[in-house]
Amino acid sequence: MSDRYALIGNPVAHSKSPWIHTRFARDCGQDLEYGLIEAPLDGFAAAVDAFRAAGGSGLNVTLPFKEEAFRYCERTSARAAPVVNTLVFDGDAFGDNTDGVGLVRDLQVNLGVELAGRRVLLMGAGGAAQGVVGALLESGVAQLVVANRTLGRAQALAARHPGVTAKSYATLGEPVDIVVNATSAGLAGDALALPHGLLGKGMLAYDMVYGRDTPFLATARAAGARACDGLGMLVEQAAESFLLWRGVRPETGAPLAELRAALRQG
Ligand code: ATR
Repeated sequence: MSDRYALIGNPVAHSKSPWIHTRFARDCGQDLEYGLIEAPLDGFAAAVDAFRAAGGSGLNVTLPFKEEAFRYCERTSARAAPVVNTLVFDGDAFGDNTDGVGLVRDLQVNLGVELAGRRVLLMGAGGAAQGVVGALLESGVAQLVVANRTLGRAQALAARHPGVTAKSYATLGEPVDIVVNATSAGLAGDALALPHGLLGKGMLAYDMVYGRDTPFLATARAAGARACDGLGMLVEQAAESFLLWRGVRPETGAPLAELRAALRQG
């Protein structure tokens, strides 16, 4: 029987992860199956237990279970705290987070963006933002500001990461080079209440949401900034999860280009 993996979340129906991992497996000559598990909101641990009992080898975790996945694990990597997006079952449950390295790789390799010495503004302080702060700091950025609608959450995040400054949207104004939107505002089609003039020419605006032109990206483009969605991060974090599970890192360029083309066609 093939080794079994899946994405667990709620909802998961429109996920690209099965396509991505099936493609990786084909390219790497690996024998595996990758499915989808839509767990009830109060049923994450039971669904994971059932998957493990049936012989499952690993899971990707998405909304709204990433924090619960951290608490579920018997062991976690340093970069996982406090949000886990990858579970490895090999006797015990090991949790890791590949979102941060996925974002950094997409920025540096796919988009050719230098991070070292840059001033970066991270919008949001929820699970998505928490998962990438460590990797952004390690990439050598000169400055990392975390801004959130609810200032207290940004302050709590900054308190855990020396070198991060917390701000509310209203107090933003200093020039930055890169703005990463890790809020879920774009999923609802909502704009961020950013100060006028924050986005402009020569800047990169990156939205972790993919497959849609969010108000944030549209505003950035209209202001003359380079605007990029999070499809590359999705593929790169998947490749890092695949590496954890299978010991081989798939090539991401062709799958990313195919996925991009498929999304364009609708
Ligand atoms: P996720 O795991 O996607 O980060 P989350 O933990 O619910 O989900 O966090 C959602 C993030 O998006 C938060 O930073 C939230 O801001 P608050 O902490 O103030 O709630 C942010 N967010 C969601 N909708 C937003 C909006 N319309 N404007 C600004 N920020 C928004």
